[in-house]
Amino acid sequence: MVGGMDLRKVDSLSSIAEAEDLDFSRLLDRPRLKIERKRSFDERSVSELTVSGNLRQVDSYDSMCSLGTMRSVLDTPVSSDPNPFDPHPMVAEAWEALRRTIVFFRGQPVGTIAAYDHASEEVLNYDQVFVRDFFPSALAFLMNGEPEIVKNFLMKTLYLQGWEKRIDRFKLGEGVMPASFKVKHDPTRKTDNLIADFGESAIGRVAPVDSGFWWIILLRAYTKSTGDLALADSAECQKGMRLILALCLSEGFDTFPTLLCTDGCSMIDRRMGIYGYPMEIQALFFMALRCALTMLKQDTEGKEFIDRIVKRLHALSYHIRNYFWLDFQKLNVIYRYKTEEYSHTAVNKFNVIPDSIPDWIFDFMPTGGGYFIGNVSPARMDFRWFSLGNCIAILSSLATPEQSAAIMDLLEARWEELVGEMPLKVAYPALESHEWRIVTGCDPKNTRWSYHNGGTWPVTLWLLTAACIKTGRPQIARRAIDLAENRLSKDSWPEYYDGKLGRYIGKQARKFQTWSIAGYLVAKMMLEDPSHLGMISLEEDKAMLRPPIKRSASWTI
Ligand code: GLC
Repeated sequence: MVGGMDLRKVDSLSSIAEAEDLDFSRLLDRPRLKIERKRSFDERSVSELTVSGNLRQVDSYDSMCSLGTMRSVLDTPVSSDPNPFDPHPMVAEAWEALRRTIVFFRGQPVGTIAAYDHASEEVLNYDQVFVRDFFPSALAFLMNGEPEIVKNFLMKTLYLQGWEKRIDRFKLGEGVMPASFKVKHDPTRKTDNLIADFGESAIGRVAPVDSGFWWIILLRAYTKSTGDLALADSAECQKGMRLILALCLSEGFDTFPTLLCTDGCSMIDRRMGIYGYPMEIQALFFMALRCALTMLKQDTEGKEFIDRIVKRLHALSYHIRNYFWLDFQKLNVIYRYKTEEYSHTAVNKFNVIPDSIPDWIFDFMPTGGGYFIGNVSPARMDFRWFSLGNCIAILSSLATPEQSAAIMDLLEARWEELVGEMPLKVAYPALESHEWRIVTGCDPKNTRWSYHNGGTWPVTLWLLTAACIKTGRPQIARRAIDLAENRLSKDSWPEYYDGKLGRYIGKQARKFQTWSIAGYLVAKMMLEDPSHLGMISLEEDKAMLRPPIKRSASWTI
């Protein structure tokens, strides 16, 4: 019993909430809520919920109603600081640093640059607004009741999506969202112009698959936070979503529901052996599909996409939950796999050769706990652990509640390896020697335990904190935040740290990296007020657990 309320009752209410969340258009008929509080409009704290006893308020509490989260909120003191009125001095410093990075377009704030590092001689493209980097900035602004910059950003990137995109003589898909953009001032005409990069200037010339997903996820976060349904409902946003979805739902030669990607198409934006079906992209894909489902209108065009999304979600969740999941038992099964099995009775469907299992995994795998591995394709399992994919899997409920708990168990059991002295490694372990040569193409920036190759990225603090709150383990987030507070400000907010324990400021790391700053602020605000979680969390969709696809006749054994 929680505050006199039967937990089971809450749980069943959450499924009503989910059902309603899917039918976003119905929200239109409801009276608009006046936004007075600086937090998610429909995500009130559990204490408010239980005190008021007004069950209708549960409506869209999709992140707050799960049993796990219930526990988390009850365990979590209202404030993470010993004295809530005396916030950590780093908070004010971080806000100041974040505000310095704001970019204006014709007088309006439209985003934040990647890094404000004046000491660095090489600006490279860190003076641009990256879509993925802006995400934690956007959350910070939303949580602080400043949605304007987020709305402007969503509209500007949507406008850029409409540009014709070419690399040499090749035209990119219509829906591609930029990796980054820049505002250029024209002093003669006294006006601002936008310059965007869709991959045609990026190192490696790779288009960012993640940008469109972040954009959809942000649109939902904005809508949840402000209650402004008009933006997502506008013809422009509906079209923008459909264009992104058309790119990733198109039919082809695929036999898997996962999305085929090139190396370097996401946060890890250079060759690191993540080509194929990287977990990071699959998790973002899943989350974006679920977010789109809550926002797409049920008109003729929207309906067609809704049907395709629902089918894909079933297949995708089944595939990832089964084939990407690794724990002690599963590892043992793979270790004993027979190979060269033909036909639908095969246990080792992708013909993974047990000899390809790397040695490190046998010691690394704890008896309890598990995680989604980096990649699965024919005869290839990339056993590396990636932070973003696993955290987003928890937030989007791609991971079942049991899997989410196991991911956190593993993190606790392998804290030294995955966190060490600074949260959190982007990937574990690092590639070394011959493997580094072959996989990265001898990349001098991605040497072992540096940058994307086992480097530590403070930006992941917000993802970790959100996952901790969702799984009812705020104490882990607090531990991680304490570590960050020991060093981040003293070290001038580096982009990444190097070394097995993440002790050294990254060799080529920028200082005052915006998403390191914003990630810290978001983590602090979420721990302070866990109801913010609703912006970036989706409750489990029970329907997805039902057997998804009818077997075709050719499958009968
Ligand atoms: C690096 C990161 C990428 C980020 C960019 C800007 O290229 O790998 O994820 O978006 O810097 O900070």
